Amino acid sequence: HFMQKEIYEQPVVVAQTLTSYLRPLEEQVALPDMDFDLKAIERVAIVACGTASYVGMIGKYWFERFARVPVEVDVASEFRYREAPLRKGDLAIFISQSGETADTLAALRYAKGEGVHTLSVVNVPTSTIARESETVLQTLAGPEIGVASTKAFTCQLMVLASLAVAAGKARGELSDEDETSLVHGLVEIPRLMAAALTSEPQIEKLARDISKSKDVLYLGRGTSYPLALEGALKLKEISYIHAEGYAAGELKHGPIALIDENMPVVVIAPFDRVFEKTVSNMQEVAARGGKIILMTDAKGAA
Ligand code: F6R
Repeated sequence: HFMQKEIYEQPVVVAQTLTSYLRPLEEQVALPDMDFDLKAIERVAIVACGTASYVGMIGKYWFERFARVPVEVDVASEFRYREAPLRKGDLAIFISQSGETADTLAALRYAKGEGVHTLSVVNVPTSTIARESETVLQTLAGPEIGVASTKAFTCQLMVLASLAVAAGKARGELSDEDETSLVHGLVEIPRLMAAALTSEPQIEKLARDISKSKDVLYLGRGTSYPLALEGALKLKEISYIHAEGYAAGELKHGPIALIDENMPVVVIAPFDRVFEKTVSNMQEVAARGGKIILMTDAKGAA
């Protein structure tokens, strides 16, 4: 399947994309010249559809944390009709693999009409969205043939991460040491992805179990929340199994009622500053007999 082939291409294409926006040896970000000054941006709007909009949601966490700039994320089909007030000098970012998605293109045209700076993150440099944007940061994912976005998603994340670190640096929110440590983390990603892909036999076994379920819940906090949404979208699209993604802290506000022994719950929880909080949500799931599939790192598993 193309999708499987593209999943396995990720370590290589993610490395290619990172190489365009980082200086790995110096452990610094290196964005191309842009027509606007990242220092002067007061607000960012990120607009995209589907999987690309989840990249935008993750980008919001990074921008706000590293650059302390407020970010709004919209799905393009809403943004284009809601006449969002944008201020001259704001930055609007459009994320699209194809660069041709009609709603995202219409949103870009609206933003241009409002006089904001426009930047697109696209995989196809000759696309309409790329041609009509003031600045283009290309993902080097190569052609994505599978309808479900995989490698484009992870490459888009690399561009957003590089941009957020560059914005943090330009605005004086990140020190040289912060930059080095974040870039070091990014440079490690292709190797870690290749290692994660060796889990396929275990994943295949889990997939066989999940395939018998009617509904699956995905939970995560922080940047793992949009990842939970993406996991649920991908499962729906590829297996036709109903799935929902939730912010783990929202569990008690409704969805917990659905949990029983027939409900697999995929919990995405790397060992980060919200890990313990997610673990307490996991305990609530376990108390109701839910089947937990924990996706974590070595520290989280310990
Ligand atoms: C889901 C998927 C879609 C696309 C969306 C936007 O797997 O691929 O949700 O992400 O249709 O497409 P692009 O990125 O081409 O604008």
